[in-house]
Amino acid sequence: MKLIAIYLTVLLGCLGFAAYAGRSSAAKPCWCWSHDQGLVITKVPHPKGTEYISYGSYGSEVDWNNPDHVIPLNYSQAQGKRVFDGQCIWCHADATPAGPSNRSNVTPVPPLMNDGSVFNMLSDKELQRVIALGGSAVGKSAMMPPYGKSLTQEDIQDVILYTRAIAAPTYQRPSIWKRISWKK
Ligand code: HEC
Repeated sequence: MKLIAIYLTVLLGCLGFAAYAGRSSAAKPCWCWSHDQGLVITKVPHPKGTEYISYGSYGSEVDWNNPDHVIPLNYSQAQGKRVFDGQCIWCHADATPAGPSNRSNVTPVPPLMNDGSVFNMLSDKELQRVIALGGSAVGKSAMMPPYGKSLTQEDIQDVILYTRAIAAPTYQRPSIWKRISWKK
C-alpha cells in the first residue's frame, strides 16, 4: 500500500512537472540560441509568366489580352496547350514562338483560340466534332483541317479544356441541367 502511494506521488510529481515545463521557460532545453536558431526566412517572389505557377499547377498561360494576368493550367489544360502550340497556333493565334503566325493569310480568318465570343457558344461536343472532322464536315471552311486521325480523343479533349481556360470572356460551364440533353 505504501509502495503504491509513493509510486502515485512520484508519478503525479512527474506529470505536474511536465505540465509546468510545457508552459514555462523550463521547456527551452537550450537558452543559448534564439528561437529561430538564427535562420533568416525571406519570401522569394515568384516571377510572373514563367512556365510554372507554384502549387498544384502544371503550367500557365499569360492572358492573351492582359499580360499582367497569368492563368494557371491544370494537367489536362497544360497538355492541351502543348497540342495547341504544336498544331493550332499557326492559324488560331497572331504570334507563335517562331514569330508571326499564318493567321492573317488564311481565309476566312480563323478565330483567335481565346475568343470566347466564338467558342463559348459551342458545346464541348460541337468543338470535338469540328476539330476531329474538320471545317467542311460541319458546314464551315475546309481551311480548318480534320484532326481525328492525327490527334487522339484525349488530345482533342485537352485542347478543348485549354481553349476553355484561356477564353475571354471567361467560359462558364453550363449547369448540369443544361448539359443533360435528351436530344444528343
Ligand atoms: C490551316 C489553318 C488552321 C489550323 C492549323 C487549325 N485551324 Fe481551326 N479553323 C481554321 C479556320 C479557317 C476556321 C474557320 C472556319 C470557318 O469559320 O468557316 C477554323 C475554325 C475552328 C473551329 C470552329 C470555330 C467555329 O466558329 O465554329 C475550331 C473549334 C477550331 N478551328 C479548332 C482548331 C484546333 C483545336 C486546331 C488545332 C488542333 C485548329 N483549329 C487548327 C483554320 C485552322
